[in-house]
Amino acid sequence: MTSQKIRQQFLDFFNAKGHLIVPSAPIVLKDDPTLMFSNSGMTQFKDYFLGYKEPKAPRIADTQKCLRVSGKHNDLDDVGRDTYHHTMFEMLGNWSFGDYFKKEAIDYAWELLTEVYKIPKENLYVTIFEGDATENLGRDQDAYNFWKAHIDESRIINGNKKDNFWEMGESGPCGPCSEIHVDLRSEEEKAAVNALELVNNDHPQVVEIWNLVFMEFNRKADGSLEKLPAQHVDTGMGFERLCMALQGKKSNYDTDVFTPLIAKVEEVSGKKYTGVLEDEKDIAIRVLVDHIRAVSFAIADGQLPSNGGAGYVIRRILRRAISYSYRFLGMTEPFLYQLVAVLKNEMGNFFPEMEKQEKLVTEVIREEETSFLKTIEHGLKRIDLIINETLSRNEKTLPGAEVFELYDTYGFPADLSRIIAEEKGLTVDEPGFDEEMTKQKQRSRKSSAQKVHDWVILEEKQEAFVGYDLTETETYITRYRKVENKDGEFYQIVLAKSPFYPEGGGQVGDKGILIPSYTEGFDISNPSLTDVTSCADLIEVLETKKENNLIVSLIKELPKDAGAVFYAKVNTSERKNTQANHSVTHLLHEALREVLGTHVEQKGSNVGPDYLRFDFSHFSKMSEEEIALVEEKVNSKIKENISLEEFRDIPIAEAMEKGAMALFGEKYGDSVRMIQFGTSRELCGGTHVSNTSEIGHFKIQSESSTAAGIRRIEAISGDRSAEYFRNLETQVKQISALLKTKDLTKAVEKLLEENAGLKSEVESYKKEKAKGETANWKNDFTVAGDKKLLVKKVSMDAASVKDIVFQLKKETEDALIVIISDAGEKPMITVGVSQNLERKYHAGNIVKDLAREIQGGGGGNPGFATAGGKDMSGLERAYEKALAL
Ligand code: ALA
Repeated sequence: MTSQKIRQQFLDFFNAKGHLIVPSAPIVLKDDPTLMFSNSGMTQFKDYFLGYKEPKAPRIADTQKCLRVSGKHNDLDDVGRDTYHHTMFEMLGNWSFGDYFKKEAIDYAWELLTEVYKIPKENLYVTIFEGDATENLGRDQDAYNFWKAHIDESRIINGNKKDNFWEMGESGPCGPCSEIHVDLRSEEEKAAVNALELVNNDHPQVVEIWNLVFMEFNRKADGSLEKLPAQHVDTGMGFERLCMALQGKKSNYDTDVFTPLIAKVEEVSGKKYTGVLEDEKDIAIRVLVDHIRAVSFAIADGQLPSNGGAGYVIRRILRRAISYSYRFLGMTEPFLYQLVAVLKNEMGNFFPEMEKQEKLVTEVIREEETSFLKTIEHGLKRIDLIINETLSRNEKTLPGAEVFELYDTYGFPADLSRIIAEEKGLTVDEPGFDEEMTKQKQRSRKSSAQKVHDWVILEEKQEAFVGYDLTETETYITRYRKVENKDGEFYQIVLAKSPFYPEGGGQVGDKGILIPSYTEGFDISNPSLTDVTSCADLIEVLETKKENNLIVSLIKELPKDAGAVFYAKVNTSERKNTQANHSVTHLLHEALREVLGTHVEQKGSNVGPDYLRFDFSHFSKMSEEEIALVEEKVNSKIKENISLEEFRDIPIAEAMEKGAMALFGEKYGDSVRMIQFGTSRELCGGTHVSNTSEIGHFKIQSESSTAAGIRRIEAISGDRSAEYFRNLETQVKQISALLKTKDLTKAVEKLLEENAGLKSEVESYKKEKAKGETANWKNDFTVAGDKKLLVKKVSMDAASVKDIVFQLKKETEDALIVIISDAGEKPMITVGVSQNLERKYHAGNIVKDLAREIQGGGGGNPGFATAGGKDMSGLERAYEKALAL
């Protein structure tokens, strides 16, 4: 059975059991400070479990793209070394949100595996939670009883908290779980060792395929468990492992999920995959075909490789693949990008993002490969240097700090350094390397460490965002918690009604103030009549962010009565400028698609009060004409006075029908918000101007590249645009006054012309002078032993000194010339040696010696050498030293 069919059967089975089938959420998470990537099927449903959000349906099933490469669930180091761990994998899952519980979950799983997929019952084993005294939890007797109906008791195994109590992260929903394992060994192997001994023991053919989690608890930040308001089911089946079981293979890499990719690697590299576990070439091929999936899907979902956060994780995965292919397949040219087309053919049917984003993904990977291969080349040169220096010190261990620097600053893989060292019979100082690594980790932990306390909940309430309609409102605090970070202690608060826009969709979060009702002289029922811009009780809202479904504002100190009523006011001058920048971003997006083509798609944006940044897919630099045309189109829309039409909570299908732009990698609900300005229609959660005329004027300030296939426009509008033109005008006026003319172009052209004339006059004057000096200096030679010595202090530019020294060398035999000069602000030593003396005196060595006096360095050949320095006061000492020659 093909993998495509296996996936479809899973979805069909649960659909028939009343489950709503939903698409996979994007692999990269946006609003979750505790997690970077979807690491299991339930990630997108976290809010349903915690009771923050109403589930779309009580029963849901899907296949979810997952990535386990950071945080609590991290499999990266195992990938390639075994046959069944992956960075990206698909997790097939079915969920019940307060609907069915353990019995049905167990019955469904058994029915699907044994009756639909027809896995022989005798090959299946299950585990259940044995209980844990420290958590005050007993054995999962219910699960045991339900399993007993299907499977012999001897094949139901007790498991401890590590294996059978599933938690999403350090905090969050969790509960006991029951795993299903399958024994794929041959009959002889089965006869030799009982599978009961191999379950959960890292045997490659006795593997867990499905995990049924019975969600009942929430792990709080302080480590304690709290009962969830309802009981839920969360299951996850490893799709690639299931394919291995159903296709009768011994390794995930032998299934049709991977074989087309492997065939392509074989074709391009000329190396054959033999499926051997310890073979380095085979490990490398497994690493490549695994990693290419993770990286491609992340990019298709909008996460480009970069130097920080999720982008850095993606870059490191790709670099791991490149470094394996370089080392073990001898691939010194980019080639991984060619696998993207294969991936599209295999998965594009089910995951349309792969189909649509193929070109971008290919370009980005090719560019990353090119630049990292350069890094490797550069690193190889540096490691050679480190090796030579080590050998010249008669040592056999490369300094850990230097190998670490190579890794940390230049991105050169440390194990590559180790291998190269070994080839030369050397080792790396590992404790030294580890020490640097620890120090670096501490540094980054210090700068990002944040201690977050548990919420203090004043009222369980669904919080509402009212900021689309209001910028000020009466409200109160429903929960708060303390956070401590490197900047001090703060409080995060959630308001019953929040007018503050939480950072998201590229738009910055709102700032503002909260005025407590107990403020003296403040009448909350008539707030406009009271002036409260400065009073002791006023609370400043420093930033607003979204966390899962909560709108969280940051304040410095908790108000003295946290339960009071507050009047919340957004900083409207900032908000207005931000809105102008956000709305104009939509107009820009539309104009770019008109001018450059419909391949242009938003790849990121940053909209704040001062400027906007817009990243989009496009494969070449924009010309001046294109930029001007885009500006013109946007400005003409602004002038058309187009009113905002906002469609709140319309079904996504309706929005798409109206032609709304949706972005890859964004998670949209069933009902969406559509922002329309004339023909521009986008799904968007941001705040906007009510008419394009409020934008004022739009001005692009730069167009550049951020990654292969991605361009970036930085621009301004509104007040900033007006300021920009005012400043420009002031500057022009100042220059006009200096040049005493209004025709600046003509005046500057004239200046440049005059300047060029003066320059060449000065040059010829210097040449003349040098000729005269040559004659003078010739008289200053003194005979010292076998040579004619000239030591001179002058104040002259370097080029003139060079000319004279060359002239003197040519005209005089046996000459050794040392000129000490201050060329402008810089001390300088020049040494010349006549050709017939070169075997005895080396200008390069002499200059090096003298340069020490002026804290300088330099060098040259035996006949001529120069050195520049930092210490003017050393010129005198250098002169004395030269005389002593
Ligand atoms: N969430 C569970 C897991 O990832 C099903 O194993």
